[in-house]
Amino acid sequence: MSKKVVLLPGDGIGAEVVREAEKIIAHLSDHYGIGIETETHLVGGASLDAHDIPVKDEVVEACKSADAVLLGAVGGPKWDDYPSDKRPEKALLRLRKDLGLFNNLRPVTVFSSLKDASPLRPEVVDGVDLLVVRELTGGLYFGEPKEITEVNGEETGVDTMRYSVTEIERITRAAFDAARKRRGKVTSVDKANILATSQLWRKTVTRIAAEYPDVELEHMLVDNCAMQLIRNPSGFDVILTENMFGDILSDEAAMLTGSIGMLPSASLGDGTGMYEPVHGSAPDIAGKDIANPLATLASVALMFRFSLGHEKAASDIEEAISAVLNAGYNCKDMSRHARHVLSTSEMGDKILSVIIEKQDG
Ligand code: NAD
Ligand code: IPM
Ligand code: MN
Repeated sequence: MSKKVVLLPGDGIGAEVVREAEKIIAHLSDHYGIGIETETHLVGGASLDAHDIPVKDEVVEACKSADAVLLGAVGGPKWDDYPSDKRPEKALLRLRKDLGLFNNLRPVTVFSSLKDASPLRPEVVDGVDLLVVRELTGGLYFGEPKEITEVNGEETGVDTMRYSVTEIERITRAAFDAARKRRGKVTSVDKANILATSQLWRKTVTRIAAEYPDVELEHMLVDNCAMQLIRNPSGFDVILTENMFGDILSDEAAMLTGSIGMLPSASLGDGTGMYEPVHGSAPDIAGKDIANPLATLASVALMFRFSLGHEKAASDIEEAISAVLNAGYNCKDMSRHARHVLSTSEMGDKILSVIIEKQDG
């Protein structure tokens, strides 16, 4: 049995955190005899520099034929003024669309030993364990028209928010299926007091919810949700929401844990799954060996669980992350809490050594 994993390090700290993930993947592949073959390709700014295109067709094809994809991050100031079809972020959008990755899972877990690491009071964040289920291939990101045109002699920007019933139904089922395996509550977040897409969203979610009588449904307006995430984050189990709201709320939720460097994600659809940290390429800290690789390592755990069918390898990584955090180790972004501050590569090595120690013991 062998598995193919495509690695897309991308730009900035993307390459630094994926390097740490490679060490863990190689070890777990050997240890469990999974036979993972990795293949590395350029995406984002790195691909623009080499090939003048954010992602080559053959890279998209390689991802489609792989068992899983691990992406670091794309983007950076060097490419910020490029035209919209030549922006590094286009690579990410194309991969999501072409791989059909409509279901983006972003788990937010506050480790008890890290409750002091959040800028919020420890009693507010202690015990937080929520999952953002973000629709990933619709809404404002993809709706047409999307352009800057001339209207009444003036430059005018247009983006289009568009959702079909089918798109809403499938992400709703994904959220309710996830809630069934958790604490059985879905908060559907929309702006149904204003937006037509949200009115259809609310109606559709309510109808699908009837198929899940064992799961509690509440609707919440997105502005209120942004506030409740700070006021009482423990009140959430699964947050179901559209693409743009999910993007914003998940960065906000990241700070419950203390750092965006802690938040992993899985993007799922009918084919190959893609795994990536929620954070970006962090140009302000790139090249310094201080980026926190834990979001990426936790994403690798999700990859073993959802795409490689290897729960044991997934829990090995998650248990090692908990053990290392509980022992007071962390990276610079979490240093207000950490007793031992590690570099990116030291953190990768630490996690690997804890995995090996446990497997040998
Ligand atoms: P960002 O997430 O890159 O950085 C925001 C802040 O968080 C920065 O101060 C950064 O240093 C810090 N940070 C992020 N990840 C960290 C980590 N692992 N460890 C420690 N600190 C970390 O967001 P941004 O600055 O708004 O965007 C920078 C670039 O990244 C942009 O070009 C943006 O388009 C791109 N981006 C890409 C992705 C992706 O590829 N998935 C996601 C978000 C942003
Ligand atoms: C994310 C990022 C992306 C998004 C960007 C880089 C296109 O912010 O994955 O959260 O907005 O989806
Ligand atoms: Mn984002």
